[in-house]
Amino acid sequence: MKDKTWFSSTLLDWNRQSNDRQMPWKGEKDPYLVWLSEIILQQTRVEQGLPYFLRFKEKYPTVKHLAKAPEDDVMRLWQGLGYYSRARNLHHTAKHIASELKGIFPATYHDIVKLKGIGPYTAAAIASFIFGEKQAVVDGNVIRVLARIYGIDLPFDTTEGKKAFSELAQKLISDTHPGEYNQAIMDFGATVCVPANPKCDICPFADKCVAYQENRQEELPVRAKRITKKERFFYYVVLKDNKEIIITKRSANDIWKGLYELPMLESPKAIRKNIGEAVSTFLGKKVKIESYSKPYTQQLTHQTIQSVFIFIDGEDLQNVHIEGAQKVPLKKLPTFAFPKVVHLFLVENSLL
Ligand code: ADE
Repeated sequence: MKDKTWFSSTLLDWNRQSNDRQMPWKGEKDPYLVWLSEIILQQTRVEQGLPYFLRFKEKYPTVKHLAKAPEDDVMRLWQGLGYYSRARNLHHTAKHIASELKGIFPATYHDIVKLKGIGPYTAAAIASFIFGEKQAVVDGNVIRVLARIYGIDLPFDTTEGKKAFSELAQKLISDTHPGEYNQAIMDFGATVCVPANPKCDICPFADKCVAYQENRQEELPVRAKRITKKERFFYYVVLKDNKEIIITKRSANDIWKGLYELPMLESPKAIRKNIGEAVSTFLGKKVKIESYSKPYTQQLTHQTIQSVFIFIDGEDLQNVHIEGAQKVPLKKLPTFAFPKVVHLFLVENSLL
């Protein structure tokens, strides 16, 4: 292992000389806004997350504003970002901070990490950026940078691997500039030591980087488990007339909790025959199918969702018994948050 100051001083030099990544939360001193930006940026690229951050900041400038917001409004503003539990937890924790903590954000890693929806990564980011606490962030970017430079082929998605990367990260972090160091390593991973075709020609670590020296950039970091995807089949029923449409809210502990959709029948397999019967049973009355939409596919991290939208013959909104269904005016649809596929279907069919 090379000595610790070599790594942090090389990184901080790179940050001061070559890193020109501008982001509105850099240098931010309000923990609420840093928290908001870090939650938005989990599993989300900066370019995608940025407009969401700006809209949230504008609509909810303080934790108290967010705490007071109706959940549907928060979900609506989050629509399209995915991983919706982030939005629900953000809102939940804003309410907790406003009511139990007098609106004051906790000031230590130890207290921040106890908040719902805030894990070690986000707590370390907030504690270091705002409070100057020496807590190293460990995310996918950091793991990639460390695995390559130090030639670590321990799988990062195992207990042992997680521990090793966290310990190394904590050893390497700058004593004097922990916040700047954390921001710099994330930026470095996102702009230089990128997953495919890393920019080794401009990398200040290249002459000592094990992966570069051994030409193993593509092999590192190592993952132990393959991600297996579950396939799910959603059959949505379009029940509308000229003025109104029936929608339902997803409330189970499942993907898209808190979002709205059309009445939906889920099947463990693709239904190829007798779909009319399945839909009639689902709706509790005999219906005739008029037409189907094209299939819509959405890839999530652990699931592939295949959706088909079914138009029913005769636009009859009466006598439909679906739990939690609500009839809403078509012109109100833009106020609800929908999963991407449902949103796309509604837009493509001029309903949104
Ligand atoms: N990804 C998550 N947090 C980030 C940050 N603060 N800067 C750049 N990329 C990030």
